[in-house]
Order: sequence, then C-alpha cells, then structure tokens
Amino acid sequence: MHKALYREYRPQKFSDVVGQEHIIRTLKNEIMSGNIAHAYMFSGTRGTGKTTAAKIFARAVNCLNPKDGEPCNECESCKSILNDSTVDIFEIDAASNNSVDDVREIRESVKYTPANSKYKVYIIDEAHMLSKGASNALLKTIEEPPEYVVFIFATTEPNKMIPTVLSRCQRFDFKRITVEEMKERMRYICSKEGVEVEEDALSVIARNSQGALRDALSILDRCILFGDKYLRYEDVVEILGIVNIDEIFGLADDIITHNVAAALKKIDSFISSGKDIEILSSELLEHMRNLMICLAAGDSAKEIISVSDDEFDRMKKSIENTDIDNVIRIINILSEIQNNLKYATDKRTIFEVGIIKTIKPTYDTNKEALEERVKYLEKVIESGNITVSARKTEFLDEADMDSEEDVEEISKSKKTKATKDKSSSKKSKKYEEMKSEDLKKIERLWDKILDKMKQDRKMPVRAMLLEKKSLKEHNGVLYIIFGEKFAFAKKSLSDHGNSEYIESVVKDIVHKNFSVKVILESEADMINMDIEKEEDKGEELLKQVVDPELIEVRDSMDEE
Ligand SMILES: Nc1ncnc2c1ncn2[C@@H]1O[C@H](COP(=O)(O)OP(=O)(O)O)[C@@H](O)[C@H]1O
Ligand SMILES: [Mg+2]
Ligand SMILES: [Zn+2]
Repeated sequence: MHKALYREYRPQKFSDVVGQEHIIRTLKNEIMSGNIAHAYMFSGTRGTGKTTAAKIFARAVNCLNPKDGEPCNECESCKSILNDSTVDIFEIDAASNNSVDDVREIRESVKYTPANSKYKVYIIDEAHMLSKGASNALLKTIEEPPEYVVFIFATTEPNKMIPTVLSRCQRFDFKRITVEEMKERMRYICSKEGVEVEEDALSVIARNSQGALRDALSILDRCILFGDKYLRYEDVVEILGIVNIDEIFGLADDIITHNVAAALKKIDSFISSGKDIEILSSELLEHMRNLMICLAAGDSAKEIISVSDDEFDRMKKSIENTDIDNVIRIINILSEIQNNLKYATDKRTIFEVGIIKTIKPTYDTNKEALEERVKYLEKVIESGNITVSARKTEFLDEADMDSEEDVEEISKSKKTKATKDKSSSKKSKKYEEMKSEDLKKIERLWDKILDKMKQDRKMPVRAMLLEKKSLKEHNGVLYIIFGEKFAFAKKSLSDHGNSEYIESVVKDIVHKNFSVKVILESEADMINMDIEKEEDKGEELLKQVVDPELIEVRDSMDEE
C-alpha cells in the first residue's frame, strides 16, 4: 500500500527539519549541555514540524551516542523509540484524552522511574484540547516534576492554554515554512523518489500550502501519483484546480485595459471548469502585487518577485497600459474581495461584482465631487430647465448641509420620531409617494446611503448597488435600475430581507419612507422608463461643459 509521503519523510534528525532554525539550535544546545527543561510548549500552525521536533527530541535526550545534540537513531534506545517498543515515551492525543481521569493516569505513571531510558517523555499533542480541570490536575505535576520527566505540549492554539501551564513551559513558536524552504524539502524528496520535477511545479505547490509543509507534501503526493515520475507544472495546476499563469495574465490585462466583457467571460470559463474562486482571487491579488513592484522598482523588481525572464517580460508589457495608482487601487479592491469571499455563500457574485469594480476608474475626492456635479448637470439637462445658476446654488447649499455631521445631527434629532415611524410602517406598510425632488435628493445622497451600508456591514448589498445603472421615480416608487447582465443583483436585492433593508437605509438618510423596487433595463422599458435616450442626450451637452476625458472614463464604466 502507498504510504503517504509526509509520513514516510518525517525527519528523523534535527538537521532534516527545514525552517525553525532558532528552535532547533536551542534544543540541540540544551541536549549537548544536558540542560533540559521539564516542560516545553511547541506552538504554531499545523504541519510546521512540532510533532516531528518533539519525537526527535525524545530520542535525542535518551540516545546513548548522541552527536552534536542529534540522536544517532541506531542505539538500543533510539531503536526502541523508533519501533515503538519502549514504555517510556508517551504520545498522548489530547483531542481524545482530555478528561481529568486521563490526566490522573499520567500523574500516576509519572511517579515511576523510566523502565530503560534516561527520561520519560510525554508528548501531549493538541494540548489546547485538555479540559480546564485536566489542565489544572496536570499543573501540579509540572510544578514539581521528577528529574526524569519531560513534558512536551504541542498546540496550534497556545492562547487556549491556561496561563499557569504556559508560564511553566519553555516556549517555542514554530513559524510557517517559507516557499523556498518547502521547495528545498520537496526537491530532496523527489530526488529520493526518482521523480523529475519542473521548478514551476514546486513553486505552485509551495505557494498553495499556506506555510504548512505537511499540506505541500500531501499535494506533492497526489501530483506524483498522477504524473508517473514526472512532476509537470500543468498537472499540478490541473490537480489543484488552480489557475495557470496565462489565465492570470489574461484576467489582469482585461482589468487594466477596462475590458469588462472579456474579464467576465474568463471568470465564467474558469468557474465552469470547476475551479476555486478563492484561489483565483488570491492568485490575481498576488499577480497585481507583482505588477505593483514592477512599476515601483523597475528592473530591480525581478529579484524581489523572483519570476522567470519570460514572465518578467510579460509583466513589463502589462504595466505599459497602467500606472501605480491604478494598480494600488485594484489591489485594495481585490483584498476587500478576498475578505468578503471568506464569508460569502454566493462567491461568484461577490467576485464578479468586485472585478467590475476594479475595472471602474478611481474617483479621488476631487473627482468624486466633479462626478456629483456631472450627475447634477445631467439632471438639469434632462429636465430641460436651463436656469443653471439658480440650481447650482441650490445644489451647493444642499451639498454643504448634507455633510456627514449635519446628517448625523438631523438623524439624531429625529431619532424618536423615526423609530415611531418605523414601527407604525411595519404594520401598515404605508409608503410615502416619491416626488421628483425626492429622487434628486436620493441621488445626491446616494454615497451616504452606501456609506451607511458599509457601517452596517452589508457589503454584498452595497457591492451590488454600486453597479446600478440609474435611479428612477415612477408612480411614486423608487426604482433602482440595473443593466441586463445583472439579473443576479436584481434577484438578490429584491429578496425580501434585502429590499426592506434598502428601504430602511433610504429612510434613515432622506427621512422618508419610500417603496423601493429593483428592476432590469428591459423591464424599465416595459413600463415606459426610457433610460438610454436620456443619458445619451445628456452626454453630448456634457462634453461641452466638462473635460471630455472624464466622460470617456464614465463611458468605459457604463459600457457593461
Ligand atoms: N519543518 C519541517 N521540516 C521537514 N518536514 C516537515 C516540517 N514540518 C512538517 N514536515 C512534514 O510534515 C509532516 C507533519 O509534520 P508535523 O511535525 O506532524 O507537523 P505539526 O505537528 O506541526 O502539525 C512531517 O511528517 C513531515 O513530513
Ligand atoms: Mg502535530
Ligand atoms: Zn541513539
């Protein structure tokens, strides 16, 4: 039967343990000087060598011919430990032996001197699983342990250990294994197994193991079984269900060149081939980070990001079409997506909405203000009312008044009333009739509405609303209109909880209780809301008023 690589290649000597140099050095020194502690705490992420180091340590302290702090693995003592025939080494899994009774057994056994070793070693794995009572019972033993006893607690969650136990232990924090260290170990194992490797294949395995060497070896195992003594990059990508570098380059270039349609198409084919969105998202983020470093560091970036010549050339080509501010903006959005994905049930929607956001241009405070004004001008032009100066004053006044503090003031002073309104409206569902002035106000305060959603941590709702095409008033109801591609947004936002939530936020911000409906453009057409025409009309006039470049920017945003 096939024995898992990570078991087969559990290091037998300290020198085979990769990473964790400071820990290994200290442990070896203690063994050489005979200065052994009675309780150790090995903490850190899983798969980083805690159990491995504990087992080597148990042999090293008992070895009859230790060399430079290493066990010889050949003497009587080492052999009896290696083949599990000794009664002096205890491996206890606290996950299943965590009761006070279990600890009582340990305390009993501690009383007796070792049968044929120098030290009795108790390796207590998953130590945080010990019950509080058990930990306290154990405390007495480790406060005054017999000379011949060593406890090694291993845990991924040292913060769950009781402090009195922690403080009795010499503590070592096992670090995540770096990509280079993992590659080194995998290279060694592959050469032992007679497997030929592609360097990129090892990199991609290491990068997908989150610092846990055990995970890397499990993946390597699967890949070797699949590839028949040859480890190919493509096979690893296939097996991991991850993206290959071409796909990442392609998607990144779509984002940089504002090609929403192409990006969505790539995401679709990616998902239909059954691959993992979270992995795609993190690979994309890493790629963008590399592009940022290229932009910032020029040719010296090559060493920092350690990529092949070919990849580096492609990166240089990608960044010709962008600048560092834009890439940083994209990175920010991608890290937000990354966070949201963790908790999302509909990961695809979150990812798509996020990607569309990356393709939209930035608006810094100035541009944002400008955009507000552009929107306002559009409305003026639409309404055919050209008394611009009078309107403009009104707009500025209101905008002033609607600064954050003022809104807060108002909402505070109206709080009592608002709560009353809410409870009464819940019963009767009585909405106020929306007027065109109300619509204008909502449009002006739209960002405040979105901000409130952010405060409420309603990120998915907010993210979807960011993609709305327009707002309209019709028969006294507020319509939020989406492009045809956003059927999922319509569906999700029309869901009972979400639409009520949107209504409640609108009410919080504009202090009126409106009915809100989410529809698609085609549906808007059906009830005679002519959207396209109005916006086109506005655009021509706008070009005469504002920088055409800004309009172009808006174009690329609205295209999809
Ligand atoms: N630092 C390391 N050096 C070499 N191999 C390691 C290391 N960490 C983990 N491994 C590999 O992963 C397997 C599991 O490691 P283990 O020591 O049980 O991890 P932990 O106890 O930290 O969860 C080992 O058998 C070994 O193959
Ligand atoms: Mg372990
Ligand atoms: Zn030995």
